[in-house]
Amino acid sequence: LATIDHVLFLACGTSWHAALLGKRFLEQIARVHVEVDISSEYRYRNPIAAGGTLVVAISQSGETADTLASVRLARSKFLPVLSLVNVPESTIARESDGVMPLLAGPEIGVASTKAYTGQVLALYLFALQLGRAKGRLSAEECSTRIAAVAELPELVGRTLQETEPAVAAAADLFAAARDSVFLGRVGEYPTALEGALKLKEIAYVTAHGYAAGEFKHGPIALVTAKLPVICLCPPGAMHDKMLSNIEEVRARDGRIIAVGAADDDALDAIADHLFPVAVPADELLQPLLTVLPLQRYALLVAQRRGCDVDQPRNLAKSVTVE
Ligand code: M6R
Repeated sequence: LATIDHVLFLACGTSWHAALLGKRFLEQIARVHVEVDISSEYRYRNPIAAGGTLVVAISQSGETADTLASVRLARSKFLPVLSLVNVPESTIARESDGVMPLLAGPEIGVASTKAYTGQVLALYLFALQLGRAKGRLSAEECSTRIAAVAELPELVGRTLQETEPAVAAAADLFAAARDSVFLGRVGEYPTALEGALKLKEIAYVTAHGYAAGEFKHGPIALVTAKLPVICLCPPGAMHDKMLSNIEEVRARDGRIIAVGAADDDALDAIADHLFPVAVPADELLQPLLTVLPLQRYALLVAQRRGCDVDQPRNLAKSVTVE
């Protein structure tokens, strides 16, 4: 790991969203340059293979056709490939130079949820390992971050419990909405994409995730008094910028569902609904908590719309053909 100068993540769907968070972790903790590519794009764009690059393929199933083809392409260019898979005997695992098993247990539902949590957590731990190997993370800082990870199970339990009433109320109110928008910045931008994907795939709602700063460059025209806008605004460096984005939505009469801290009075005052998430000791870990009420929201909206959440239409658990 000490010789790696560049990491390239390859993945599809929810695994790609986890990869976007992996980029954040590796850049912030290990200060390594990271690129993230969608497997189906990488395989057809005649990519340049730079020396000192480690490819990390992320796939819950380990059988996704585009990610497998990308692994083969990267290896044909003599790039080492490490795979992060939940099925250690899968094809992608077998064809990689190294494997990080996710150990999340079998994931049966088509919508990836626990695998996403496992992927994000594994990528955080990988960033710690890389940071240590490159001498960019002190033993003390590493211990502090691991202590923050150890608190997560309690924070996850609390978040699930404390957000449920507000999530159910919002699902009751917005189950009939045809469109939804999810906004987040930096660490919460992947969460916005993931929340939108969940709502699309199990509730068949047209949902878009945006980097909140991009919203004013066109999509803000979508806002009406009927549009639920789910805004990820936990404490941290992006909080005040997000609040300004939320004010822009409010000024156009959008219905605001905010995800943030329970004691955030400014956020509570501007939002129609607040999903009160727990706040971890390390801000980088916040997306593991903010995604939870969005997964629950998609589930409850889907149930109210009469959708079969275990067998969503047109979808298979793993996409093994192009
Ligand atoms: O098995 P994989 O992680 O390679 O699957 C990638 C995507 O097909 C998958 O994450 C898909 O987007 C999920 N159904 C989303 O919930």
